[in-house]
Order: sequence, then structure tokens, then C-alpha cells
Amino acid sequence: MTDLPQRAAFPDGFLFGAATSAYQIEGHAQGGAGRTHWDDFAATPGNVVNAEDGAVACDHLNRMDEDLDLLGQLGVDVYRFSTSWARVLPEGRGAANETGLDFYDRLVDGLVARGIKPALTLYHWELPSALADLGGWRNRDIAGWFADYTEVLLDRIGDRIWSVAPINEPFCVGWLGHFTGDHAPGLRDIRATARAMHHILLAHGTATAAMRARGQQNLGAVCNLEFAHPATDKLNDRLAAERYEAFYNRFYLQGLTKGSYPEEALEGLGAHLPAGWEADMDVISAPLDWLGLNYYTCKRIAAAPGPWPALREVDGPLPKTDMGWEVYPDGLRHFLTWVASEFTGNLPLYVTENGMASRSGTEDADRIAYLAQHLDAACAALADGVPLAGYFVWSLLDNFEWALGYGKRFGLVEVDFETLERRPKASFDALAKALHR
Ligand code: FCB
Repeated sequence: MTDLPQRAAFPDGFLFGAATSAYQIEGHAQGGAGRTHWDDFAATPGNVVNAEDGAVACDHLNRMDEDLDLLGQLGVDVYRFSTSWARVLPEGRGAANETGLDFYDRLVDGLVARGIKPALTLYHWELPSALADLGGWRNRDIAGWFADYTEVLLDRIGDRIWSVAPINEPFCVGWLGHFTGDHAPGLRDIRATARAMHHILLAHGTATAAMRARGQQNLGAVCNLEFAHPATDKLNDRLAAERYEAFYNRFYLQGLTKGSYPEEALEGLGAHLPAGWEADMDVISAPLDWLGLNYYTCKRIAAAPGPWPALREVDGPLPKTDMGWEVYPDGLRHFLTWVASEFTGNLPLYVTENGMASRSGTEDADRIAYLAQHLDAACAALADGVPLAGYFVWSLLDNFEWALGYGKRFGLVEVDFETLERRPKASFDALAKALHR
């Protein structure tokens, strides 16, 4: 069996972590949380495999201590978790749910007590339904609502939080939610997409300014990046791959770090952005303390007839995970060096998510191999001089994989969704061994 690179192969102070998100593990029907657009999306036939939802999920709400003990056994330095806006503010605004705030308070205390740094994400996709009713990410006012939620939450837990990322993967919120319709709210509308993409970044910037003003430290952003191979060397396919990269990767990276959007994205989206969007770019590009990259795979992109972006994905030759995603660790090394050289310079970078879906149960040699290949790519980027400061595995637990339901198993720990029993997998043991001091 492959060995994982050991802690000693990384610089002193390099942080290892595991990641989860609220809706995917907590059990959202419990504890006084408000309804979210993921509950609505899942309740609509055809959106989620087997019509599964996050009502119970891993029941982390009631099993938090057991899960924190698992993190302790794993030996991670930091835990990347998210809080649910609708658990804190069931209507998205107004009255807070004290039970929800108490839960997050205990979670953070439990991490600190175990010597694990709490890395907070404020939004990992479960928008309160009451705000979806008002247009959700299409409504510019969401930036202020989001900053207000941030303040309520940080009033309670901000004193013990190690880092904050406002929004997980703006690409997925904007594009999968509003263009392809694969995620909540399930729209397929280019105008909604452009507005959502911009308002997400405006919410990021507005919340960041509010947090800076109150002295919150270590504020970052988390983007998911996907390497786009042109399907062939033909010019049309190369241009299609550039368009894909522009709306997938560069829109957010460039917006956050340079205060502008790439031309290849504006070609299609510019006409649909809200009037006066340029005036928001200073707020959006306020300095970051770090940037997180979520990386899983590459895509093969071919030109296709039809309106912008006039492209389609084609099948690729590399071995695939249970998501059908090609395994391409070179993409991780590429992105780490490219992001540092083009966008972030000396800013600390983190791999904030990396992992694979596998059906192999607790004997998951395939996951160990995947993690080893990507940790090697991270080492190669470090040798290239990239200021990479940490790496997080997605995910601690098998969980609700959005539109694909509970069938896609990303966890280092298996969860039996009948009994909710947790069983550490071989990959958990391999990582625990690698991280042992
Ligand atoms: C990322 C998401 C995470 C999980 C993994 C597989 O895009 O942030 O919630 O779904 O993919």
C-alpha cells in the first residue's frame, strides 16, 4: 500500500487539517435551524439523487463530541468547518436562534480544548429560504444581510476563531446554482448568474470589511479551481478552454486580487452584470491575509455551437474517481505556482479541500493513493518556492454530497447512514500515522 508523505517532509509550521460543511453533516432539520434553499431544492423531484436531503445527514449536531474526538485521533492541527446562516438566523435576518449559537460555541470550545485551530467558513451554500424568497444572490442587498449575519455569529465565537473565509467556492454558488441549475436554487439563467457571481464577491468584500473593522484576524477566501485541457489542439477548442478557465477560475481570482474581471468572461457576462458594478471592485479586492484553493480534477473542453460560452465537456483518458472526475495531481502543482505568480505573490496559500469519492469502504487504498499523489504535488509546489502553508483533506466524514446525495463517499471516516455509526477507514489510519509527531 502507498505511504502518505510524512509531516517531516513539509516545512516547520505547515498545517494539516480536515474539512466539512454545515449542511452536509449537521442534520439541518434539528436544533431550531431555519429552512434553506437546499431543503427546497431537494424537495423538488429530480434535483437530488433519491430525493435525499440534509435533514439528518451525519447527525453531527448530536454527535459533535465523537466527531471532535476523531479529529483529535487523526492528529490534525486545524479543522475547517462552516456555520449555517439559517441555524444562526432562521429567517436570514432578525432574531437569532440561541440553540444554534450555543452549538457553534460548544464546537469552537471543543476544538480549542483539543488544541485544534478553528478555521471558519461563513457560507457553504445553505441560503436561508426567507432570503431566497427575496431573490437570494441576485439581490444586491444580500451583501449587507451577509455582513449582519457575520457580526451576529462573530459576536459569539469570533474571539476563538483562527481564520475566516466568508464564502466557500464562489464559482459553485454562482455557476452551479444559477447557470447549470445543478445546485440550489437550480436556476438556468445567464442574467441571474452574472448578478449572483458579482454579488457573491460583493458579499465577500462587505463581510471582510465588517470583520476587519472589528479586529477579526486572518481573513481569507476559498476558490475552487479546475484545470481546463482543450479537447484538441484546434484553435476553437483552445479558445473554448480559455473561456471555461475565465468564468471558472479567473473571474474570482482576478476579482478578489486585482479588482477586475477577465475579458473572456465579460464577453458573455458583461451585459448581464448589475449597472455600476465597476464601483464595487475596491470593496471586492480588499487585501486578503491568505487564499485557499480547493482542487479535485481537470476537465476536457471542446467548442460547441450555441450561445456563449459555446463549449462542452468531453470524456478524458485518466483514471477517474467515483464522481467520474479524472485524477490529475499535476493540476494542483500548476494552480499553486500559477496562483502565486499571477495573483497572490507572497500571500500564504492553503489547499483548503482535496480528496476523492470512493466506493471502497473502510479499505480505501485508492483514497490513500490519491492523497499521496496530491501531497506529493504540494511538496513539488513548495520546492518551486510557493508559499503553501497548509493542506486540508475533504472530508472528515462521508456526508451529503449535494445533488448526488449520500452515495458519494469522500470521508476519511465511513458513516453508516442507517445507524449513524462512524468507522475510520484505512486512509484515516494512514493520515494519522503520517501526522504523528
Ligand atoms: C466541493 C465542495 C464540498 C464537496 C466537495 C466534493 O466543491 O466545497 O462541499 O462537495 O466539493
